[in-house]
Amino acid sequence: MALTIEPIDPAAPAFGGEVSGIDLTRPLSRADAAAVDAGMDQYGVLVFHDQDITDAQQIAFSTTLGPLEVKKRPGNIRKASESRLGAGIGDLSNLDKNGKIISAEDRQWFFKLGDRLWHSDSSYAVVPAKYSLLSGRVVPSWGGRTEFADMRAAYDALDARTKAEVEDLICEHSLLYSRGAIGFSEFTPEEVELFRPVLQRLVRIHPSSGRKSLFLSSHAGTIVGWTIPEARSFLRDLTEHATQREFVYSHSWKQHDLVMWDNRSTMHRARRFDRTEVRDMRRTTLAGDAPTVEQVDA
Ligand code: OGA
Ligand code: MN
Repeated sequence: MALTIEPIDPAAPAFGGEVSGIDLTRPLSRADAAAVDAGMDQYGVLVFHDQDITDAQQIAFSTTLGPLEVKKRPGNIRKASESRLGAGIGDLSNLDKNGKIISAEDRQWFFKLGDRLWHSDSSYAVVPAKYSLLSGRVVPSWGGRTEFADMRAAYDALDARTKAEVEDLICEHSLLYSRGAIGFSEFTPEEVELFRPVLQRLVRIHPSSGRKSLFLSSHAGTIVGWTIPEARSFLRDLTEHATQREFVYSHSWKQHDLVMWDNRSTMHRARRFDRTEVRDMRRTTLAGDAPTVEQVDA
């Protein structure tokens, strides 16, 4: 079975690839792992259909491509003891520990709704994530798409003056900012401390392709040296620019799809679905290799 990668949309061949000739329940050959990496560099997002995998198989496939992210700080308000899944796999579902749909009034649900804003995974961490791999185990009958924006194309399309302006800007990222943006700001003093901001460059250079991209995320709450209103309105402007239809791939989930994206060159967001239906999505995340700005990682 030969692995092939083709553009998902021939009309937009630069962003989003569809992989065929691969079975993620089986160990990946070195050649296939290299082809997947090359595909990620080219397309930014890869889709694998009909991959009915277990958590262990998802972790095995992921670790063939690189080490899993080990969080120094939590990315959630859920305690480890409340988690439904084992180590190494993130629960992106709308289910609690016992497999019941989380109540609409639960603060864990409020927190989760923050995923509906455009973001890059772990941009609130000193070393932000490399790849995320999301497996659709149970998908709702309506809605619940995941959308991806190509931050390389968005950067390229900026005018020269804006490119010069953003070149050396540094942003502060925190989960408090993204959750605050949807009106959820009731955090305990411990959470405020855990979610304290980190610094990220606004323009990143991709280590493999050498291409520049805009490193935006709803976690970005201000720009170093700017006033907050000026920074927020500029970040909102840039986000609007970067998420125009021409830069976006919208993924409509089928059960057993696995979608993989490069957080260094893309943003993504979840879309609405009927919250009374189960949406069981599970994520593995590969560690990034360096901070984008030198800082103390305390
Ligand atoms: C994620 C995420 C979006 C979704 O897995 O990091 O933001 O559609 N998911 O569930
Ligand atoms: Mn995410």
